Amino acid sequence: MGRVENKVVIITGAASGLGAADARMLRSEGAKLILTDINVPAGEALAQEIGAAFFPQDVSEEDSWQALMEFTLATYGRLDGLVNNAGIGIIANIETTSTAVWRQTMGVHLDGTFWGCQAAIKLMKASGGGSIINMSSTAALVGIPAYLAYSAAKGGIRSMTKSIAIHCKQQKLGIRCNSVHPGSISTPMVHHALKTLVGVDLPAQTDPEQQRLAMGIGEPDDVAHMIVYLISDESKHITGSEMVIDNGDTVV
Ligand SMILES: NC(=O)c1ccc[n+]([C@@H]2O[C@H](COP(=O)([O-])OP(=O)(O)OC[C@H]3O[C@@H](n4cnc5c(N)ncnc54)[C@H](O)[C@@H]3O)[C@@H](O)[C@H]2O)c1
Repeated sequence: MGRVENKVVIITGAASGLGAADARMLRSEGAKLILTDINVPAGEALAQEIGAAFFPQDVSEEDSWQALMEFTLATYGRLDGLVNNAGIGIIANIETTSTAVWRQTMGVHLDGTFWGCQAAIKLMKASGGGSIINMSSTAALVGIPAYLAYSAAKGGIRSMTKSIAIHCKQQKLGIRCNSVHPGSISTPMVHHALKTLVGVDLPAQTDPEQQRLAMGIGEPDDVAHMIVYLISDESKHITGSEMVIDNGDTVV
């Protein structure tokens, strides 16, 4: 038996980076997965490779959530877990952030997470409970000047998560809701940031341990382990928590 055997889990933004690593590890631990992404070819390819379902979705489109829940019920008949993982990181500070960038960032991160939680809770109530994981960031805890809108959105996800967690607890829904706060993890989003902000070409560096020790950059599986734990019943006493995965970077 896997640690999440037969749990039905949706992962948004699963075609790349952390979402893809979450998908591989959850699947290897027995979960039944629905992957979603705007990148349809990459999402479909991963789903086929690991034996998951794929649903094309833009999380910032409200209607997509109802369609996704209908697909989930038709495919697996229930929902046990949701990983609100889809994200964008647009580099702009308080002086350079346009209204369009602000709205786009809020649309993907805050609107998408809000609609995802709302839609998932309906299905999870019918399934007798569940686990929602909202991907936030250490940007929610300390702020990052070059990611003004992103930091604000991730801060909103942090507090939204706590409000949802306590609502579900008070209503005795059996639904847990936690946020996950990675520091820098080696994914295309961070590769782009390093190249743009400090001129470092990370993919050329092959040794992950060297990246971790010398540059403070973790691996996608460092996050995937946390996702498996939070989806599994091993974390049944954990809700409203913020799980920081940053090798201590925000401690000092
Ligand atoms: N990599 C890190 O260091 C890090 C740190 C903190 C938080 N995060 C968060 O983790 C999540 C995953 O990031 P990543 O590093 O894997 O990035 P990534 O760019 O590798 O992957 C993001 C995925 O989201 C998809 N996506 C983007 N907009 C979407 C939309 N509107 N609807 C559906 N899918 C959409 C992309 O197509 C892509 O597949 C994000 O929420 C990110 O903010 C990442």
